[in-house]
Amino acid sequence: MLAFKVHKMQAEAAKLHLKKTGLLVPHMNAKRVGDFVLFPVVKKAAVPLEGTFVKSVFEAVPHTPSFREALVAALGAQEGHEATASYDTVGDIAIIEVPEKLESKERIIASALLKSNPRLKTVLKKESAMQGQFRVRKFKWLAGRRNYVAEYKESGCTFRFDLRKTYFSTRLSHERTRIASLTQPKEKVLALFAGVGPFAIVIAKQQPSADVVAVELNPDAFAMMQDNVAQNKVRNVLALKGDVRAVLKKYPKWADRACMPLPHTGYDFLDDVIAAMKDGGVVHFYGFGGEAEGVFTLNLAKVKSACKRQGVACTILEKRVVRPYAPAVFQVVIDFQVRRIQS
Ligand SMILES: C[S@@+](CC[C@H](N)C(=O)[O-])C[C@H]1O[C@@H](n2cnc3c(N)ncnc32)[C@H](O)[C@@H]1O
Repeated sequence: MLAFKVHKMQAEAAKLHLKKTGLLVPHMNAKRVGDFVLFPVVKKAAVPLEGTFVKSVFEAVPHTPSFREALVAALGAQEGHEATASYDTVGDIAIIEVPEKLESKERIIASALLKSNPRLKTVLKKESAMQGQFRVRKFKWLAGRRNYVAEYKESGCTFRFDLRKTYFSTRLSHERTRIASLTQPKEKVLALFAGVGPFAIVIAKQQPSADVVAVELNPDAFAMMQDNVAQNKVRNVLALKGDVRAVLKKYPKWADRACMPLPHTGYDFLDDVIAAMKDGGVVHFYGFGGEAEGVFTLNLAKVKSACKRQGVACTILEKRVVRPYAPAVFQVVIDFQVRRIQS
């Protein structure tokens, strides 16, 4: 094969030029010979660098197909394009959805995914929506290592959890970082509906002088949170197993900050959380909002009426869309500050 040979000092400039002018042969590795680098090229042409054209042999770069390419190769063009080529990952576990029409091909689809992404070790399929009070989903193993325990890293923290036994969403990582960066030294923080501890641990790690109380009802999630607290060596998280309403009775006017990631029914706990806030405390309240009525309208109304019931003044500090949830429905967060009205 034809090659362009340059001194190693000019290799970077040569590569850029050959790429820009379309002379470089794609999917082939350049190679080093002594002080020179040889690039595979399609033809001889004027190159504004000191170099020569020679003959050489090159190795092809192994081509990893995209998921869509792998689907088409495995299922043929029509079904390969009907299959959903997007997927979620948690550590090295991929989670896919399979259209009903292609259910009989789900194993083939899962194997195609493993071929397209060698970093992935397991493919699971969502078998249900998030269900029940513990917000747990059913999964079906499809390909790779038969494993349901994810190891996931975020913000310098590691989380290990069994996907079949607890809720976890990587899509809330931005919220965790946002709240951790708002947390001030020595704050008292309530990480409620804590799951396996992602909010609590990210906050505690970033603000080691803060005092974080994390509350979770699901015994499996609670046990995983305890392990994650130990694994991440955060000494400022107190993990409590129990119902938020019962636990908060022991924390009247205690918190500078509270985090309420229970978007379906979190409003049922607003009164209890407000009662646990110090004067000036800030609550991060998550809810769902429909586009039709305005994504924040209902949630703002719930916050304001709970504050009124509790006899506190309420300042809305921020309201933002966290992520799309369903067609025309969004997960939102409202940050509000509680001011205790002096009587
Ligand atoms: C949407 S998940 C959020 C979990 C976690 N904060 C996260 O971001 O991964 C809500 C969690 O609240 C827990 N939960 C539901 N009702 C509860 C209650 N009354 N008291 C304590 N925890 C509760 C569920 O078991 C679930 O783990």
